[in-house]
Amino acid sequence: MSEIADLSNWEDDTNALHQRQIIEKAIAKTSSRYRRGFGGIRESMPHLGATCAALEQWCAEFEPKGDCGLYLHGATGTGKTGLAQAVKLALCERNYVVDSWNSAKLMDTIRDSYNPNSEHNRQEIMRFASGDDYRGAAHLFILDDLGTERSSEHDLDVLYLILNLRYDEMRPVLVTSNHSLKSLLAAHVDDLAWQRLISRLAEMCEEIGVPAAARPDQRLTARRRRGKEAEDAHRVTVPTDEF
Ligand SMILES: Nc1ncnc2c1ncn2[C@@H]1O[C@H](COP(=O)(O)OP(=O)(O)OP(=O)(O)O)[C@@H](O)[C@H]1O
Ligand SMILES: [Mg+2]
Repeated sequence: MSEIADLSNWEDDTNALHQRQIIEKAIAKTSSRYRRGFGGIRESMPHLGATCAALEQWCAEFEPKGDCGLYLHGATGTGKTGLAQAVKLALCERNYVVDSWNSAKLMDTIRDSYNPNSEHNRQEIMRFASGDDYRGAAHLFILDDLGTERSSEHDLDVLYLILNLRYDEMRPVLVTSNHSLKSLLAAHVDDLAWQRLISRLAEMCEEIGVPAAARPDQRLTARRRRGKEAEDAHRVTVPTDEF
C-alpha cells in the first residue's frame, strides 16, 4: 500500500472544510433563546406542532435551488424568529450554509457601510449583495422581520439587489414578517421599489401563516406564567398586571 496520501481531491476537501467552518460559525451565532430549535418550540408552544412538522419536512426535502422559499407571517410573539432559527439549525445539521439576518440589522449594516471607519466597508457590502462571497451564495438566506425596518430609498435598493440576485439565480430565501405579502403590498401601494421586491418574494416563496395560540403573544403568556409561579411561591403579594 502506498504511503503517499491521495491528494487528488485536496481542493474539494479544503472547500468542504471551509464550508463546515462557516456552518459551525452560523450555529455558534444562534441566539441563546432560539438554540433549542424545533424541540424548544414544541415544548413552549405546543399549538405549533403541525407548523414544526411541516417545516421539518421542508428541511428534510430542502434543495438549494428553485422557488422553494418560505414566507412566514404572523402577529408579534407567535414564534416566527424561533421557527426561522430552528430551520437554520436543521439545515446546518444537513451541512447547508445558511446566512441569517435580522432585517433592521441588515439595514444598519448597510448604513454603517457608508462610514469610512466602519468594519463593513461599502465594497464588502456590495460584494455580499452581488453574491461574490459565500454569504451571497449561501444555500438559504434568512431575512427576519421584513417590513419593520426603517429603510431609506438606498437601503431598499441594496435589499432589492440582494433578493433579486437570489431570485435570478433561483436560490431560496426564508423571510419572516408581521405582515402577509398582501398586507405588505397594500402598505406600499405607491412604492414601486417595494412592489418589485414583494412581487419577487411572491414567486420565490410559499406563504405560511404562523397560527397564534388562544393568547396570541407567547411572550405575554410567559410573563403571566412567571407571575403565577412567583405568587404560588409567595414571592409577590401583588399580582402581576395583566396585559
Ligand atoms: N426555539 C425555541 N425554544 C423555546 N422557546 C422559543 C423558541 N423560539 C421562540 N420561543 C419563544 O416563543 C415566543 C415567541 O418568540 P419569537 O421571538 O419567535 O416571536 P416572533 O413571532 O418572532 O415575534 P416578533 O414578530 O415580535 O418578532 C417567545 O416567548 C420565545 O421565548
Ligand atoms: Mg421575530
